[in-house]
Amino acid sequence: MAFTLKINGTPHEVDVDGDTPLLWVLRDVLGMTGTKFGCGLALCGACTVHVDGQAVRSCQTPVDSIGDSAVTTIEAIGETPQGKALQQAWLELEVVQCGYCQSGQIMSAAALLAETPKPTDADIDAAMSGNVCRCGTYQRIRAAIHKAAA
Ligand code: FES
Ligand code: FES
Repeated sequence: MAFTLKINGTPHEVDVDGDTPLLWVLRDVLGMTGTKFGCGLALCGACTVHVDGQAVRSCQTPVDSIGDSAVTTIEAIGETPQGKALQQAWLELEVVQCGYCQSGQIMSAAALLAETPKPTDADIDAAMSGNVCRCGTYQRIRAAIHKAAA
């Protein structure tokens, strides 16, 4: 079935089954590989993208649920004020280790800052609790979010 998805401001026509996860469409159909596959079960956050500004797990988001909503991925989050500030803070504080989880971390952090420009530690913990980092970069992620908010 054909769907026209608005991704990073551009319409993309894809022909896939309606229950295909958005993550599959992004990576395998459109070649946008910045969004990562981790668990496939909405448990790790590696696949986080925005749908109308809300952080969602694209591995558990069927493509037929998107409709006219605007999808934003890591490839374009740097074009938003929050995304730009976060990416700068991430670089300055050298947050990344292996990097695998980091697209999802930044997408969740960007959704947080868009809603809560000056988050507390508790706000950060609540917003980021679904994003797992096996390298344990949590302290630097928190510091980078505070830095971006400043
Ligand atoms: S791959 Fe989607 S939450 Fe883990
Ligand atoms: S930086 Fe390696 S999993 Fe997070």
